[in-house]
Amino acid sequence: MAIIVCPKCAKKHKINLDIVKETAPLGKNIAARCKSCGHRFPVQLDKLFARKKEKPQEPKTDARKICVTLSKGGVGKTTTSVNLSAGLALAGYKVLLVDTDTQGQSSYILGKKPRAGLTELLTKELAPEECIVRARKNLWLLAGGKSLAGVKRIIDRKSFGAEWTLSEAMKGLDHRYDFIIIDTAPGWDQLIVNVLFYATEVLVPVALEVMPLQGLSEFMKSLGSIQKYRKEIVLKYIVPTFMDTRIKGPETIYFKLNKLYPEYICTPIRYSESLSEAPSYGKSIFEFAPGCTASADYKALIRKVTLNDSALL
Ligand SMILES: Nc1ncnc2c1ncn2[C@@H]1O[C@H](COP(=O)(O)OP(=O)(O)O)[C@@H](O)[C@H]1O
Ligand SMILES: [Mg+2]
Repeated sequence: MAIIVCPKCAKKHKINLDIVKETAPLGKNIAARCKSCGHRFPVQLDKLFARKKEKPQEPKTDARKICVTLSKGGVGKTTTSVNLSAGLALAGYKVLLVDTDTQGQSSYILGKKPRAGLTELLTKELAPEECIVRARKNLWLLAGGKSLAGVKRIIDRKSFGAEWTLSEAMKGLDHRYDFIIIDTAPGWDQLIVNVLFYATEVLVPVALEVMPLQGLSEFMKSLGSIQKYRKEIVLKYIVPTFMDTRIKGPETIYFKLNKLYPEYICTPIRYSESLSEAPSYGKSIFEFAPGCTASADYKALIRKVTLNDSALL
């Protein structure tokens, strides 16, 4: 498509260059007639085609690599990873969700049963194309699962460079996606260290239930010890989860968090039954209950992460 402008009335007209190419000889002028004011004027075809060719190709930048992590279990890491990924995909971004947990919950939530996943990628048994499955439009999955336990042992036995195993395996995949979201298991092990040597941004879900601040400050210390060796990894988002406004506790904790970490705090994800029900239907929250509060909250998170105020509105 190209646009030509009538020199008399300034009306813009779209023209299909492919059709023009077939019917008009290059190097010559053709006569155009403005549909708006009837004015006839010459159009130089050479210039028109040159302009089309000149249009610069947008360079594809590497994916943003966001890991969702906190040593404590049950805080909403997997729920956030899956719904963040699904929402980004709905907003038109190309997303790879990497599940590094032996529980392999991400595939279950997305209703997929992949035959291969991260294990086969890390052990180089299969090519990336065979390990990655398409879960939705714009959304691909590198599944976790029980077999990752064996991989952890292999990583542990490496005499040097163990922390780069994941980064090496993921090499070459970055430019295919806009976002790579990495879900992690609770606890602290070699695989999580690998994730922190691969990702560049950290998103920490904090459950506003009981004593979350201690867990968070312990995690900050661990992250600090990684940052000594890997400067690129930064804390970007703290996402309060299980916000229940019917009782006082969560709100009090939220205000404390806000005071302590104002630069990282995101809009809380409210407590929602739909979030715990959606996985058994193999659906993201946007598919299962698009009108619910949690869906609105995750949409707000997606707008914050993409810096796109109109994403998924
Ligand atoms: N905002 C929420 N409201 C209600 N239930 C939630 C919410 N977030 C997560 N859940 C549920 O809580 C449980 C633990 O969440 P999960 O994402 O698996 O935590 P983690 O990955 O940190 O262990 C799951 O059953 C999940 O469906
Ligand atoms: Mg989990």
